[in-house]
Amino acid sequence: MDLLTKTLFLCLVLALAHGAPAHPQDSAAEDGESQAAVPDRCDGIEFDAITPDEKGMTFFFKGSHLWKGFQGPAQPSNETFKELDDIHHIGHVDAAFRMHSTESPDTHDHIYFFLDDKVFRYYNHTLEDGYPKAIQEEFPGVPSHLDAAIECPSGECGADSVIFFKGDDVHVYDLSTKVMKTKTWPDLPACTSALHWLEHYYCFHGNNFTRFNPTSGEVSAGYPKDARNYFMKCPNFGHGGNYKVPKCSEVKLDAITTDDAGKTYFFSGPVYMRLDTVRDGLHAFPISRSWKEVTNGVDAVFSYMDKFYMIKDEQVYIYKTGARYTLVEGYPKTLKEELGIDGRVDAAFLCPNEHTVHIIQGRQMIDVDLTATPRVVIRDLPLPFSDLDASLCGSEGIKVFKGSQFYFYESAMTLAASKMAPFSQNITPAMMGCQE
Ligand SMILES: *[C@@H]1O[C@H](CO)[C@@H](O)[C@H](O)[C@H]1NC(C)=O
Ligand SMILES: *[C@@H]1O[C@H](CO)[C@@H](O)[C@H](O)[C@H]1NC(C)=O
Ligand SMILES: *[C@@H]1O[C@H](CO)[C@@H](O)[C@H](O)[C@H]1NC(C)=O
Repeated sequence: MDLLTKTLFLCLVLALAHGAPAHPQDSAAEDGESQAAVPDRCDGIEFDAITPDEKGMTFFFKGSHLWKGFQGPAQPSNETFKELDDIHHIGHVDAAFRMHSTESPDTHDHIYFFLDDKVFRYYNHTLEDGYPKAIQEEFPGVPSHLDAAIECPSGECGADSVIFFKGDDVHVYDLSTKVMKTKTWPDLPACTSALHWLEHYYCFHGNNFTRFNPTSGEVSAGYPKDARNYFMKCPNFGHGGNYKVPKCSEVKLDAITTDDAGKTYFFSGPVYMRLDTVRDGLHAFPISRSWKEVTNGVDAVFSYMDKFYMIKDEQVYIYKTGARYTLVEGYPKTLKEELGIDGRVDAAFLCPNEHTVHIIQGRQMIDVDLTATPRVVIRDLPLPFSDLDASLCGSEGIKVFKGSQFYFYESAMTLAASKMAPFSQNITPAMMGCQE
């Protein structure tokens, strides 16, 4: 399987799990019990703990309830993690994190919950033998009655660590040496929960959250922000994307690409979604959040060397990839200037380790040599069909997307040489996080 297929397959569970009842109140009421106590996260509440599970579903905890993912109503925590309340009657979670360290396969991706002076370890939503334990038995030196916990892998924290928060103290626990260092980070508010998402570290406090640097405690500019605009779907909140999870039969991509670092993105209307981040869940964001000059969607996108080429109408925007995308000086330029072609583009793809980009325009595939200066069209081939939306080339072949369906070809040449369309396959929830 190529990266995309693999990713898409893994996403299935996720995408399905994201489908949630539209009316939180109604479904809570159906339970017929403890209606008054069911919290609504759109009221602007303070979470007790937040953690993803091994499938990338993010759980938010408040009192005896939890939310699964970014949409849907609260439900009793003990329906998912039954020992948290049913046996021990503790009724809340102080802190939680998902173990990132791969040193021990027995703990990788397992979830740790902290309640008072106990730690509970779960995998597959099942409490493991020997738990709960005293916190200090598993994490010597770490105090009881924690406020928050967050994992920090070695690439981002020097050593594989867990950062525990309690009041104004920040305890950084090194997982291999079991040494704990206590710090204070004066700029960071007291966190009541924390979440590691992609390369980002978020401290939640009140209804707000603040992004921070996990080694220095430095706070990023522009924070705090209201969590309701980012981490949950609330009426009258949102961060500009206004993305409604579409039905798979209504999906229409504008572009899809994988960059040299293996990040796969699809673009649709004003939003994009990264598809290689299953471990952290699939989420849509406004395109302008990462590529701020691209405010009106895209027609085609491809990646070449460490650059991202985004085409909209007759303009080409080239971004340097890195921790963030920066527009290369002098761009956007016209398609004619940059790639030597006229008119609008439907789709584009570049295969790994190649230097020829295949640009699809109507019923034609135009090949442009990216090593030439200026760029020149080296081939112009007729295609078996027109009106393609997006295309992606991976190590196993090429996928071309048209509406809610896609076609697979072994190579650019088989695509151009085929006299008729091969059989189509439907985009599935697993592929794009859409609804069945
Ligand atoms: C969850 O906890 C509530 C309150 O303690 C209890 O009534 C209910 O039976 C529990 N549910 C499960 C599935 O254990
Ligand atoms: C996960 O748990 C479910 C039900 O609790 C069980 O049916 C399934 O076999 C478990 N899967 C694994 C991989 O342990
Ligand atoms: C949340 O952040 C806003 C600034 O973005 C601030 O005005 C507000 O007081 C904060 N609320 C809480 C409860 O910290």
